[in-house]
Amino acid sequence: MVKGDVRNPSLAAFGDKRIEWAAKEMPVLLLIRKRFVKEKPLQGLRIGCCLHITTETANLLLTLKAGGAEVRACASNPLSTQDDVAASLAYHAHIPTFAVCGESSSRYYAHIRSVLAFKPHMTMDDGADLISTVHKEKRSLVQGMLGGTEETTTGVVRLKSLERKHLLLYPVIAVNEADTKHLFDNRYGTGQSTIDGILRATNLLLAGKTVVLSGYGWCGRGVASRARGMGANVVVTEVHPVRALEAVMDGYRVMPMRQAASLGDLFVTLTGDIHVIRKEHFLLMKEGAIVCNAGHFNVELDLEGLRKMSRKRRLLKEFVEEYTLRNGKKIHLLGEGRLVNLVCGDGHPASVMDMSFANQALACEYLKKHARTLGKKVYGVPKAIDENIARLKLKSLGIGIDTLTPEQKTYLSSWESGT
Ligand code: ADE
Repeated sequence: MVKGDVRNPSLAAFGDKRIEWAAKEMPVLLLIRKRFVKEKPLQGLRIGCCLHITTETANLLLTLKAGGAEVRACASNPLSTQDDVAASLAYHAHIPTFAVCGESSSRYYAHIRSVLAFKPHMTMDDGADLISTVHKEKRSLVQGMLGGTEETTTGVVRLKSLERKHLLLYPVIAVNEADTKHLFDNRYGTGQSTIDGILRATNLLLAGKTVVLSGYGWCGRGVASRARGMGANVVVTEVHPVRALEAVMDGYRVMPMRQAASLGDLFVTLTGDIHVIRKEHFLLMKEGAIVCNAGHFNVELDLEGLRKMSRKRRLLKEFVEEYTLRNGKKIHLLGEGRLVNLVCGDGHPASVMDMSFANQALACEYLKKHARTLGKKVYGVPKAIDENIARLKLKSLGIGIDTLTPEQKTYLSSWESGT
C-alpha cells in the first residue's frame, strides 16, 4: 500500500495526539463523521486533496475516509506542513500523504502529481494548485472527474478566471463563499492566527506599534480588529473605494502605501495580489521594520526586489530573516513571505476550521449526488448546507435561537401592510 512521502514516520504517535486535541474543537465535523460512518455517502469515490497538512485538515480527511472515500493528500504550501500530522495520516490513518515541511518547489509539484496518480473523482484544493495541474498537464483525468471544491479566496479567483475564459473543465464548489466559511475562518481565523504567527516569530509588543495592513477584505478586517484590540495603531491600505471607506468608518487611518511605508513598524499583506509592497516602499521604511504576508501566495511582497536591493541577508532567529539594504537599513522578513499564520504558527484554530471543513465534507457529499446535473462552473455552497452548519455550530455551543411565529412568517411574506 502507498504510504506517501513524509519527513519522519516516527512522528506519527505525536501527530495522533495533536489531531485528537484539535477534534475536541470540531464538534460539527465530528457529527458529520458519525453520520458518514453509518451512511457511507462517499463510498466508491477517490478524493484527491491539496490542503495545508494540519491537525484540522487531518480531521477532515478522517471524516472523508469515514464516509467511504479513498483519500490521498498533499500540501497546498511547501512550508505549512505539520510533519507529525503528515506521518500520522500516512502511517496510522492509512491515508497516503505527500507532504514535507520545507519541500522544494519541484518536490511540491511531484507530490501533487502523486495525488493525481490515483485518478481522483474529485479534487479538493486550497489555492487551486491541484485542479490547475489537472487543467495544465493531466487533462485525461477530466473524464472520470465529478467535480472539485476550493477552500480559499485566492483559489476561487483563479477558478473564476478559468470559468470566464470558458476553460474550466468540471464543476467546482467554492467553499470560501459559504457564510459559515468566510465570515468566520477568514475574519476570526485569520484575525487571530496571523497575530499569533507574528508574535510567535517575534515576541513583539503590539501595544503602541503602528501596524500597516494591506487589504480590507474579511481577512484584513479580522487582523485589523485583533491588532487594535492589542493596542496597535492600525493603518489600512486599499485599492477598493468601498472597502477603504469601510475601514475609515471602522476607525482606521487609510492612506496609500507610499505614505504608510514610512510610518509602519509592522506590515502585513492580505490582498491576494502581487507586489503590494515593492522596492520603492522598502526604501521608505523605518530602520528595523518587520514585513510579512498572510495572503495565500508568497507574491504580495516583492521578495526578488528586496533581495536585489540588499547587500546582506542572515537568519536572525527561526522565521526572522534580516535584510540589510545598500544604505545600511535593516528590514526583517517573517516566514520567507509565505502565509505567516501557518508558517510561524499552527494556522487557524480548530473551532473555525470546524465550519470550513464541515462545508468541505458536505460539498463532497453534494457533488457525489448532483455533479452530473452541474455545468462547468464555479458554484457556491447550497444555502441549506450553509445554514445547517450554522445551526449545528450553535447547538454545539449550547446556544438556542428564536423561531418565527406563524404571524411573523405571514407578515414577512406579504406586501399589504405599510405605514
Ligand atoms: N488554513 C488556515 N488555517 C488552517 C488550518 N489550521 N488547517 C488547514 N488549513 C488552514
